[in-house]
Amino acid sequence: MPTPSMGPGDFINQMEPWIDENEVRHMTEYLSSGAWLTEFKQTQAFEGMIAEYTGAKHCVVVANGTVSLSVALWALGIGAGDEVLVPDFTMIATPNSVRLCGATPVLVDVEPSTLCMDLAAAERALTPRTKAVSLVAMNGRAPDMTAWQAFCAKHGLFLLEDAAQALGSFQHGTHLGRFGAIGSFSFSTPKIVTTGQGGALITDDDALALRMRKIKDFGRERGGVDWHEMMGQNFKFTDVQAVLGIEQMKKLPWRVARKKAVYRRYEAALRGVPQVQMLATSDETAPWFIDIYVPQPERLMAHLKARKIGTRLVYPPVHRQVIYPTEGSFPVAEDYCARGLWLPSSSFLTDDVIDRVCREIIAYFAEANA
Ligand SMILES: Cc1ncc(COP(=O)(O)O)c(C=O)c1O
Repeated sequence: MPTPSMGPGDFINQMEPWIDENEVRHMTEYLSSGAWLTEFKQTQAFEGMIAEYTGAKHCVVVANGTVSLSVALWALGIGAGDEVLVPDFTMIATPNSVRLCGATPVLVDVEPSTLCMDLAAAERALTPRTKAVSLVAMNGRAPDMTAWQAFCAKHGLFLLEDAAQALGSFQHGTHLGRFGAIGSFSFSTPKIVTTGQGGALITDDDALALRMRKIKDFGRERGGVDWHEMMGQNFKFTDVQAVLGIEQMKKLPWRVARKKAVYRRYEAALRGVPQVQMLATSDETAPWFIDIYVPQPERLMAHLKARKIGTRLVYPPVHRQVIYPTEGSFPVAEDYCARGLWLPSSSFLTDDVIDRVCREIIAYFAEANA
């Protein structure tokens, strides 16, 4: 695989897109072929690749991985008066997408082993208004999906999987996003496949797929027909993005393998550092980012930045955001969000670069202990 060249003195970004000559060539060819730009054959081909890779019957791509979640909830009939369980540790898009539908997100603490929503805490959060669960595969990790399927079946809830960070991750051979009624993905720049912005919905349900297609296309049966049998919006993709996405999808298997190898390399190097915690991660998980949990991550962040190494603090717990004032106890999310740091995670990082980052972390903690 070709890799972007990185000199020894270059700043190491926490994450970078990887656009190579294949994307450039295909984009140039597409743009010089009388392209209409809006979604059409390239988009269909991109959808087909996602469906095939994940094993889903249908894939519907949309503008991003936030509206995708709202489109899914609308298609499931979720709206005003309904409650949707969401994890307290997630990107703000997960609860916001529930609000966009007029429903209420109900925050639930996460489990320490995967940092995904905690099943027992979810059970305690149920009310007669609970209609769905928006279950995030945090950093590509998944909780026991069979247990979640059983929980949702028992309580008559829709299971929506927010798998924005989980393209390339499986559980017992099944791709994440396929355990629930609908799975949702994101193609924003830091993702393993990027189209700049973009999102995808997968489902095996014919009726749901059709509803989602209509919702993202003004509620119409098909393009060019301006009779609207249901409410919809414009959340469409473009063929320009699809050209990029198709080339990115071709690199996905290599990237999945490399992401796993990068995680293992960090893990092996940092294992002996008592202040650094990494989560046990299944071989079926392609970690989105390399996440470590350390005391005072801001200090390590500043130390690494001074040494030309970019990192990013993990998301704060949702209940601490001013737009989600919430009573309640979220001890696991509080703890991990206060200690989490994302290290350089691009799939094209060379082993030498990873080793350099690890050496700096080891030296930092050795100094702190001295
Ligand atoms: C868990 C989760 N859900 C949803 C999103 C939103 O995706 P997008 O940025 O494509 O809207 C993200 C983005 O990082 C995410 O991490």
